[in-house]
Amino acid sequence: MSQSEEFWKTRSEKYNNLNWVTDDSYLNAIIEAGNFTKDDKILDVGTGTGVIAHTVAPLAKEIIGVDISQDMLQHSNWKDNKYFLRRDIRDRIFHEGVFDKVTARMVFHHIIEDTQKAMDECYHVLRPGGKMILAEGVPPTKELKDAYEEIFKLKEERIVFLEEDLVQMFEKAGFKDVNVITHLQKGFSVTNWIENAGGLSDDVKKKILDLHINGTDEFKRIYNLRIVDNECLIDTKSLIVVGTK
Ligand SMILES: C[S@@+](CC[C@H](N)C(=O)[O-])C[C@H]1O[C@@H](n2cnc3c(N)ncnc32)[C@H](O)[C@@H]1O
Repeated sequence: MSQSEEFWKTRSEKYNNLNWVTDDSYLNAIIEAGNFTKDDKILDVGTGTGVIAHTVAPLAKEIIGVDISQDMLQHSNWKDNKYFLRRDIRDRIFHEGVFDKVTARMVFHHIIEDTQKAMDECYHVLRPGGKMILAEGVPPTKELKDAYEEIFKLKEERIVFLEEDLVQMFEKAGFKDVNVITHLQKGFSVTNWIENAGGLSDDVKKKILDLHINGTDEFKRIYNLRIVDNECLIDTKSLIVVGTK
């Protein structure tokens, strides 16, 4: 079993318990950005347990979810106009121009090698005029990138994107009219996150919590950090990037 399969196997069990995964405000922001129609054939890249596929499916003609992890896919529910396939987006899976839209939420930071190749494939499968809708969590400011990286390094190996990195990746693939929407997720529970991230030791959980609670005044102010009923809450920033082929 490859390392990434092991990684997602550990995370798959509790994945749907993560508050941010099913947070309505985040899902609604993606729906709004995607402007989906009943004619749309959609590819959901890194579909995981299928949350985006299930959210978007009622608004679309059909949606295909691809993911490298069989364990994550096992929690997706294959019926109606949704189909799920175990594939790596960096491979050539589909013919050119067969989709109207591609969605990818919280996936690209996990594609550490050949990241651009993954974006190029998304471009390849879209028809001319088709749209790529990507969502990624980012540091709340450039100044807090180091603090953000220090926290995430304890949890996993990942890419930490800034807005310009995402826009550059889109433009390099060939996307035009690249538009960035900022979404603030208010009251993100750090406590819920570390409990359901999967595979974190008690020591790592404590370190992550400490890095929040004992962060600088600037960190706590920008994240609007507060403790409510023993839960550590912050406001997190995601970017929804939309580009047209
Ligand atoms: C954080 S989960 C996001 C799942 C889903 N998009 C959502 O928003 O709930 C990231 C998913 O990306 C998948 N993934 C990572 N690298 C991938 C690749 N190269 N090709 C396809 N899927 C990939 C992982 O297996 C995992 O299920």
